[in-house]
Order: sequence, then structure tokens, then C-alpha cells
Amino acid sequence: MIMKNNIYPIFDKMLQRSDKEQLLKQHSVMIWFTGLSGSGKSTLAIALERELHRRGLLCRILDGDNIRSGINNNLGFSPEDRIENIRRIAEVSKLFVDSGIITIAAFISPSNEMRKLASDIIGKDDFIEVFIDTPLEVCEERDVKGLYAKARRGEIKEFTGISAPFEQPEHPDLRLDTSKLEIGDSVKKLLELILPKVKPE
Ligand code: PPS
Repeated sequence: MIMKNNIYPIFDKMLQRSDKEQLLKQHSVMIWFTGLSGSGKSTLAIALERELHRRGLLCRILDGDNIRSGINNNLGFSPEDRIENIRRIAEVSKLFVDSGIITIAAFISPSNEMRKLASDIIGKDDFIEVFIDTPLEVCEERDVKGLYAKARRGEIKEFTGISAPFEQPEHPDLRLDTSKLEIGDSVKKLLELILPKVKPE
């Protein structure tokens, strides 16, 4: 048993992930979307969740703006805060994955270090990295929230892609460019990758 700072986890007495997966008749995985603001992470996460749900699979989405207005509302966009943002999200995601739930995270997660941290916390065998590789020019052109314009005017500091870096994933499990693919085509590719991993034989 892990015993640190007088903490005694009770995990070994609780029902296991396999019990939950059996109940739900599915295998749980972590689907981790990474990409620039406006690249299409949330849109694809929502579309994917609907398709999986339609097939009787229980999912949960964790999304940047929602998490940042709740559990992470004390964090900004400095490199340190982004790491802490991702660390907490990964820990919360792990709780969902351990409950047998297919978990879909949509966060910029702009560095290899951050994505590795998430994968280490969740476990690399359960971690599916999906890079939404929509070019910066397209994301900026879309500018759904008007944030790129603000960042260009210097009204938002450390804005990813403009005044803060985005490091491209080296070996994502899937790469989708939403400027070239229709939403339905991206979801089809996602389902081809994910369904064999989540449907029990
Ligand atoms: S990170 O880098 O993973 O910690 O970011 P994330 O938690 O995904 O939050 C990204 C959303 O926050 C809004 N926003 C910013 N993004 C990037 N840089 C700066 N400085 C910033 N300030 C606010 C923005 O709406 C992001 O949402 P998405 O859905 O990615 O467009």
C-alpha cells in the first residue's frame, strides 16, 4: 500500500475498472485532442461523443473553456499554469477512465512535455493522441471567439500560435486537418481508430 504523508489510499478495496467495464460493456480509453485554438477540437469531440453514444457507449468530454471556468479557474496561460492545467485534467480524466468511461479531452496542450505528462498519468496504453492539425492561418481566419484579433492587437498575452509556442506532436495516433476534411470524414477516421479499442469482442 502507498503510504506517504499519512495518506492511505483504499483503491485495493474498491471495485476495479474491469468491473465497471463489464457493467458498461465497453473498454475505456482516453482520447486526447491537441491543437490550436479554433482548430476544431471541441467540434470533433462533440461529434465523436454523439456517434459513440449512439452506439451505446458511455463517454465524457472534458473541454478547455469548461474546465477553466470550474476546477482550473485559478490558472492562466503561463507555461507553469498550462502544465498544472494539464496535470489536473489528466488526473480527473484518469478517474473517468478508471470508471470505465470513454474520456475525450479537448485541450490545446501545446507542448510535448504536457502531452507526455498526461499520457504518463493516464497510462500510455490507454492514451490515444489525436492531433487536430489545422493550419494557424485557417484557425486565425475562422477566429470564432475573436481571440486571434485580440492577440494580434496585443490585448491577450501568451496566445498560442501568436505569442506562445505550439509544438507539433511527433507521433500522434491520428492527424486530422479540419480545413481539408468535412466533420463527418474526420469522425469516420476517429471511429475507425477507436471502435476496435472500445467495443468488447
Ligand atoms: S492549454 O494550453 O492546454 O492550457 O489551454 P486550454 O486549457 O485548452 O485553454 C484554451 C482555451 O482558452 C482560451 N484562451 C487561450 N488559449 C490560448 N492562449 C491564450 N493565451 C488564451 N487565453 C484564453 C481559448 O478560448 C482556448 O479555447 P479553444 O477551445 O482552444 O479555442
